[in-house]
Amino acid sequence: MKKYKIGVIGAGAIAQACHIPGYIAASNCELGAVADPEEKCLRMVRDRGWKFTSEYCCCKDMLAKEKLDVVSICTPNKFHAEIAIACMKAGADLLLEKPIALNMDEADAILKTAREYKRRVMVGFSHRFNELNIAAKAAVEAGEIGKPYMIRVRFAHCGPIPGWAKTDWFYKPELAGGGALMDMAVHAFDIVQWFISPVQSIYAQVATLRKDIPVDDNVVAVMEFEDKCLGYIECGWTSPSGFTGIEIMGDNGVIFCDYGKNKATAIKGRNAPDGSSSMVETVLIHKPSASAWVNEMKYFTSHLDSKEAFTPGVESGINTLRLVLAAYESSRTGRKVNIKQ
Ligand SMILES: NC(=O)c1ccc[n+]([C@@H]2O[C@H](COP(=O)([O-])OP(=O)(O)OC[C@H]3O[C@@H](n4cnc5c(N)ncnc54)[C@H](O)[C@@H]3O)[C@@H](O)[C@H]2O)c1
Repeated sequence: MKKYKIGVIGAGAIAQACHIPGYIAASNCELGAVADPEEKCLRMVRDRGWKFTSEYCCCKDMLAKEKLDVVSICTPNKFHAEIAIACMKAGADLLLEKPIALNMDEADAILKTAREYKRRVMVGFSHRFNELNIAAKAAVEAGEIGKPYMIRVRFAHCGPIPGWAKTDWFYKPELAGGGALMDMAVHAFDIVQWFISPVQSIYAQVATLRKDIPVDDNVVAVMEFEDKCLGYIECGWTSPSGFTGIEIMGDNGVIFCDYGKNKATAIKGRNAPDGSSSMVETVLIHKPSASAWVNEMKYFTSHLDSKEAFTPGVESGINTLRLVLAAYESSRTGRKVNIKQ
């Protein structure tokens, strides 16, 4: 069995919570090199007993000295495109965190390099690997709720700092490229299109409602899909509690993916005009055994041998970035923005 030599660039929170444990769990992967300018983050990795054969503070040095088959890019958003391009030119396939870049030129350059150097890239849209969503998608595709006409997504928490990130970049516009919209709505834009179809237009309100930060902390966006379906998302960094998850409404019922309860449910039937109701609730899945991050890494590592493109790939990264930027434009201009797919 081929052993893939793994590099990790950016050894912070998502590398420690998702990428590195995923490679350790995969029998076809071996930890090669890790790069991070922060000694404290390299130390955290060491302290967890994760043994990379070499450590670098500069990823350019790492790419010059190491021959890596696969690299995870887990840096602040600003560095994604430049590092992704350098890694592909050095011959590595990628697991690239979202958002893939800060602007469309950078995003297009990633795709161009991937094609030119024949490299495979997966983007870390982890919600696709949440088993609630997998069960919900299977139910939608089986026609359980009829044709969807509305999707609602609420992804909200108290924000990445303090508590999550190992370094201080999320609230810095030059490093993050945006706030809750760039960070969280990018996941929401991916998941609504995975469930429904490409977004045709978007209208958004983006605001800094509660945090004293120079980026947005909340966004509400309304989307139009082809074939008579609408959607709306609410993403934010100021929410101590409340529903988080996804709701899909169809002609014959509704599906809830309730992240808080870790449960996906279908409610089907009709309310008759005489007031009688024939609603039946079915649990699609409750408390799946593996997290989205575990499933994402299983998928990625188990598809390293394949010649097929990873899903989600760069195109999904580009498409979602386009929606993020359109949402900022819509909020700035007060107008609906049509999306050219
Ligand atoms: N898919 C998900 O569910 C998910 C969740 C959280 C974060 N993310 C993404 O992961 C990325 C990292 O976020 P995080 O939460 O881990 O932040 P973090 O601050 O915890 O980690 C970032 C790490 O990158 C390092 N770094 C900074 N500049 C670097 C460079 N030039 N080269 C190498 N390393 C560098 C930092 O020192 C730090 O250790 C972001 O793009 C974020 O959007 C994805």
